[in-house]
Amino acid sequence: MAYLSETRKHITTNTLAEMKTVKEKISMLTAYDFTTASLLDATGIDMILVGDSAANVMAGHSTTLPITIDQMIYHAQCVRRGVQRAFVVCDMPFGSYQISVEDATNNAVRIMKESGVDGLKLEGGIEIAETIRRITNAGIPVCGHLGLTPQSVHAFGGYGLRANNEAEAQKLLADIKALEEAGCFAIVLEKIPATLAEQASLSVSIPTIGIGAGNGCDGQVLVIDDMLGKNKGFQPKFVRHYADLYSVITKAVAQYISDVKEGKFPAIEESY
Ligand code: KIV
Repeated sequence: MAYLSETRKHITTNTLAEMKTVKEKISMLTAYDFTTASLLDATGIDMILVGDSAANVMAGHSTTLPITIDQMIYHAQCVRRGVQRAFVVCDMPFGSYQISVEDATNNAVRIMKESGVDGLKLEGGIEIAETIRRITNAGIPVCGHLGLTPQSVHAFGGYGLRANNEAEAQKLLADIKALEEAGCFAIVLEKIPATLAEQASLSVSIPTIGIGAGNGCDGQVLVIDDMLGKNKGFQPKFVRHYADLYSVITKAVAQYISDVKEGKFPAIEESY
């Protein structure tokens, strides 16, 4: 198989579309800062999401709702400076695209201008299709997001599995077509049954990126802090821990504290 993403200087929406055509899976992770984004880019990740999950993992909020446009732009600018190759997507935060199509388009243009990212992500289906059409008509690539859309956590009553009944599954299948027709270049599918995610992925020509949506999607995304095992308290079924940074960091910090207390750090060779 030709590894399209390995041969590209900078990944574009065209690369991502070609990857779906040749069945090369798309790898995506979140990042919120320069150093992490540089590491992900150097390792060859295809897409980086400046997620509004920054509200959780960076700021300690229990939902994504409080994060502001200014804060998203700050995180996106930091990430952008660390990336040469990956396609960078920034979440439009809660309240920045739900008020009116004009307001959403103004906010989308502002985030693109000030952050330099490659595209934006919006949560929702048919109800925001017109907004997506206007934003994509302005030349801005838009990634949709269906299933568990965390900005609607209060309407859902929690972070449980979505579209696990026939009516909701049918709505998701109609939503994904509406988002494709509105001009989305990709769709995130979060926490839905694997069989539905596969059916939805096969029903559209644009790539789907799954999180808690099984292996039938065209790509996968995880929150970087979760997959690196930084947060001991958050271990949902869909997260695979590729490292145990909680242990690595707490061991290193404990050693540092002990060295400082015992006067072992700094040593002569670490002094001027
Ligand atoms: O904000 C985020 O990190 C996301 C992913 C969970 C897809 O939207």
